[in-house]
Amino acid sequence: MTTTHPARRFGATPAADELSPDERVSLDELRARQLDRLRWTLRHAYENVPFYRAKFDEAGVHPDDCKDLADLAKFPTTTKHDLRDTYPFGMLAVPQRDVRRLHASSGTTGKPTVVGYTEQDIETWSTVLARSIFAAGGRPGHKLHNAYGYGLFTGGLGAHYGAEKLGCTVIPASGGMTARQVQLITDFEPEIIMVTPSYMLTLLDEFERQGVDPRSSSLKVGIFGAEPWTERMRTEIEERLDIDAVDIYGLSEVMGPGVAQECVETKDGLHIWEDHFYPEVVDPVDGDVLPDGETGELLFTSLTKQALPIIRYRTRDLTALRPGTARPSFRRMDKVTGRSDDMIILRGVNVFPTQIEEIVLGTDGLAPHFQLRLTKRDRMDHLTVLVESLAGTDADRRRAAAREIAGRVKDGVGVSVGVDVLDPETLERSVGKLRRVIDER
Ligand code: DLL
Repeated sequence: MTTTHPARRFGATPAADELSPDERVSLDELRARQLDRLRWTLRHAYENVPFYRAKFDEAGVHPDDCKDLADLAKFPTTTKHDLRDTYPFGMLAVPQRDVRRLHASSGTTGKPTVVGYTEQDIETWSTVLARSIFAAGGRPGHKLHNAYGYGLFTGGLGAHYGAEKLGCTVIPASGGMTARQVQLITDFEPEIIMVTPSYMLTLLDEFERQGVDPRSSSLKVGIFGAEPWTERMRTEIEERLDIDAVDIYGLSEVMGPGVAQECVETKDGLHIWEDHFYPEVVDPVDGDVLPDGETGELLFTSLTKQALPIIRYRTRDLTALRPGTARPSFRRMDKVTGRSDDMIILRGVNVFPTQIEEIVLGTDGLAPHFQLRLTKRDRMDHLTVLVESLAGTDADRRRAAAREIAGRVKDGVGVSVGVDVLDPETLERSVGKLRRVIDER
C-alpha cells in the first residue's frame, strides 16, 4: 500500500526532551511495563468483577497463566453485548463511592453501555489526551475550541480535561449552534479545534455563509475523530481551512478519545498509547491473533484502569498495527476506515461508507455532503448515493457527476448503485457523529 502523507504546514517537530519520560521509554522498558500492568489488570478484573471471574473460569484460564504478553491470547474476549448484559454497573471493579464519573455510549440499538472512572482514571485519561494534543502540535498557552459534545459522550469532557492538563485555554463550545461556533472562532482566535470531521464540514459551510474566508481564521490544527474519515477528507479540510488535520481515535469502553493519536510531523497513522492500552489485531471471523501489518479487528486491553478494567475488548474497528515512527516505541494503527458493523453487504459485496466518500470527494462539481440510502426493490437490496452539488454546478455537470460516481463505484467497489445529485444544502447536517447510512429496508 502506498500512501502519501501531506506535509506539515505549521509549527516545529518537538525536541526529544520536550516529550515526557513515558513517551521516550525504550521498547524493552515498555514491554516490561506492559507485562506488569497486564498481570495486575487480569488479577484486578478476576478478583473484583464476577463477570470476568465466570468467563475466565469457564475458559479454564487464571490470571497466573499470563507469563508473557503473548499469553493474553488465551483469555476470552469481551463484547459490547457483555457490557449491555451487565447494565448498568456490573463491569465496575471498584466500590461505587470510588467512581468519580460515569459516561455512556448510546450505540444504535438497545441499552447504552455505561463506563466509570476513578479519580486516578480521570488523571490517566487527561494525561493521554494532553499527550495527544501535544502530538497534534498543541502547546501550553494555545486556545482550543472544543466542539465535541459535552455530556454522556466521552468526546467533550475527555478532550476538555486533556487540554487543561496540557495548559491550553479551553473554549467548551460543545456541539450545535453552528452560527455561534463560527462567531466564537472568529472572535476568540483559537489555534486548535477538536471536532468530528463531519461537523467540521458543517462549520466550514457556515463560515462561507457568513462571508468569512475560513482560510483567514486563526486555526492552525484540527484534531478530528469519533467517526471514520478518509485521506481525501483530510485534503479537503486542510485546503479549505489552511490547517494541519490529524486523526484522534478512542472509544468509551476503553477510555474515550486519546487511546491513539496521529502525530502532526508525520501524519502517518495513529500512535497507540501502549503504556495504558494494549492492542491486538485478530481475524474477525475466527478470532485468531494476526501478526503486525495484517488488517483485522482491533482489540484492546486496558493496562492501568481501575474502575472498569477491560480485557480484550472487540472494538469492531478494522485496522493493522505498524511500527512506531514519530514516537518510536509505540506502535501505530492505520486510520480506521471501517467498522465490521457499518459495512454494508450489498448483494454479497462488502461496501464501506468511506469507499464512497473517496469517490464523492474525487468528483468535480459536488459538495462533500453525502448519504447512503438502503431500500428494497423487487426483494433485492438497493443502495442509492445521495450527494449534494456545489452551488453553480449546472444540470449537465450534475448528470455527468452521477454517471461518474456510479461508474467508479461499479469499477472500484464492484456493485451497481443509484446516484442522486441533489441541490446544495438539502441533506441533513452533522452536529456530532454523522449518520451516513439510512436503512429503509
Ligand atoms: O467516539 C470517542 C472519541 C471522541 C474519539 C472524540 C475521538 C474523538 P464512542 O462514542 O464510544 O467513543 O465511539 C467509539 O467510534 O469504536 C470507532 O468505531 C469510532 N471512532 C472513534 N474515533 C475514530 C477515528 C468515541 N479516529 C467508536 N476514526 C470507535 C474512525 C473512529 N473511527
